[in-house]
Amino acid sequence: MTTDLEIKEINNNKGSTEKARLEYNGTVVELPVVEGTEQEKAVDISNLRADTGLITLDNGYMNTGSCQSDITFIDGEKGILRYRGIDIEALAERSTFVEVCYLLIYGELPTKEQMDDFSEGLTRHSLLHEDMIHFFAGYPSTAHPMAILSSMTCSLAAYYNDASSSPTEAQINLDVIRILSKLRTIASFSYKKSIGQPLIYPNNKLTYCANIMNMMFAVPSEEYYIDDEIVKVMNQLLILHADHEQNCSTSTVRMVQSSGASIYACMSAGISALWGPLHGGANQAVLEMLQQIHDSGENYKSFLTKVKDKKSSIKLMGFGHRVYKNFDPRAKILRKACDRVLDKLGISDPLLEIAKGLEEEALKDPYFVERKLYPNVDFYSGIIYSALGIPVNMFTVMFALGRLPGWLAHWKEQNEFDKKKICRPRQVYTGYNERLYVPLRDRN
Ligand code: CMC
Repeated sequence: MTTDLEIKEINNNKGSTEKARLEYNGTVVELPVVEGTEQEKAVDISNLRADTGLITLDNGYMNTGSCQSDITFIDGEKGILRYRGIDIEALAERSTFVEVCYLLIYGELPTKEQMDDFSEGLTRHSLLHEDMIHFFAGYPSTAHPMAILSSMTCSLAAYYNDASSSPTEAQINLDVIRILSKLRTIASFSYKKSIGQPLIYPNNKLTYCANIMNMMFAVPSEEYYIDDEIVKVMNQLLILHADHEQNCSTSTVRMVQSSGASIYACMSAGISALWGPLHGGANQAVLEMLQQIHDSGENYKSFLTKVKDKKSSIKLMGFGHRVYKNFDPRAKILRKACDRVLDKLGISDPLLEIAKGLEEEALKDPYFVERKLYPNVDFYSGIIYSALGIPVNMFTVMFALGRLPGWLAHWKEQNEFDKKKICRPRQVYTGYNERLYVPLRDRN
């Protein structure tokens, strides 16, 4: 039996007539080539197993398209990121996070009336059921706020158990509003709980981002002033994190959604996936890395030598990306925002100097150049969060608040897909062949 497997050719016919030909074991199968609106091409292997008995194997899904999606376009070579066709630079400069939420979830920029309705909904649904407030008392003060956010988000399903596996459009719209509005309250309360301060309830007079700042930093005993420039930066940070197509947490949300689980369970799963240091947890890891270099007085050049040593397992956190192989447009925007915020607040942060030094050295070092490793969104976000007074263990929570509209948009897109199926990959089994059960008394 021959086992050669080869993609013979891709015809250049336009449209749905394009086929890839695959020869296996003397048989040729033709596989449809699917083309996206930005001319990306994919081989549709849906019938591969039925036609050949083969499945595909792709560790880490490096080369697997899990779905077709209208939401976000990334060109990793050119450093392009667009939400619903609009460049991230324009959105970060001219839009607000709430407007971007609407754009991602509903596909278009809102009209004035739609924007007013949407904002009003977010204002009206910000409170938590009072019984949920007691939950905070049950967590140890050392609890990571991502653990609290994830479990409290799942707990919302217990209060809004009208969330069925086939919800109506009106129900989905309400759940979207509840999630966007209540999760910022949960996040802020988890912070207040961790520092032992009284909870500050949402204030309906404040905008979405100003409300987050107020709930986190105000105290009942004095007036809290929120600077417009700081609110703008907070909006930018959340906008830049709002979606990134089929990343680990978004794929998790889509995976859980495919089983028909509650929308709250899906969001909670996304939060858990985001928590890891290779994903959303990287912003915390970056600041810890910079702090460690600072505290040890280590020259950052010698730190890079350790990063390059394959035996050390130390990474330059905030560098590298699965998709961006030229630059991450979000990092460019944040580098500028970082200078602006520190200047505005009159802060001179030695960690920023270390970050800039590391970046400069890394960008001319063959190790990073050859591997196409550039600063990603997390390289500078932590320095800005720190300047705003947000503690390190809340960084990934802020990322989660930013990523919510992306998760919701993907949840909604998948829910509306008319050919949806439960996500259930296959595997190539590499364990024992069949063997006998050995009773306990006969085992060595
Ligand atoms: N420091 C040092 N070496 C690195 C780094 C890094 N930050 N990132 C990748 N490499 C090396 C890696 O060791 C490998 O080298 P070799 O070919 O010699 O084995 C090569 O570059 C390719 O890396 P990879 O791990 O195969 O690439 P990936 O696409 O699987 O991983 C990544 C992407 C983001 C997980 C990885 O670059 C990384 O771990 N970066 C640090 C963590 C980080 O900043 N994560 C935030 C990502 S952006 C926010 C988000 O979307 O979550």
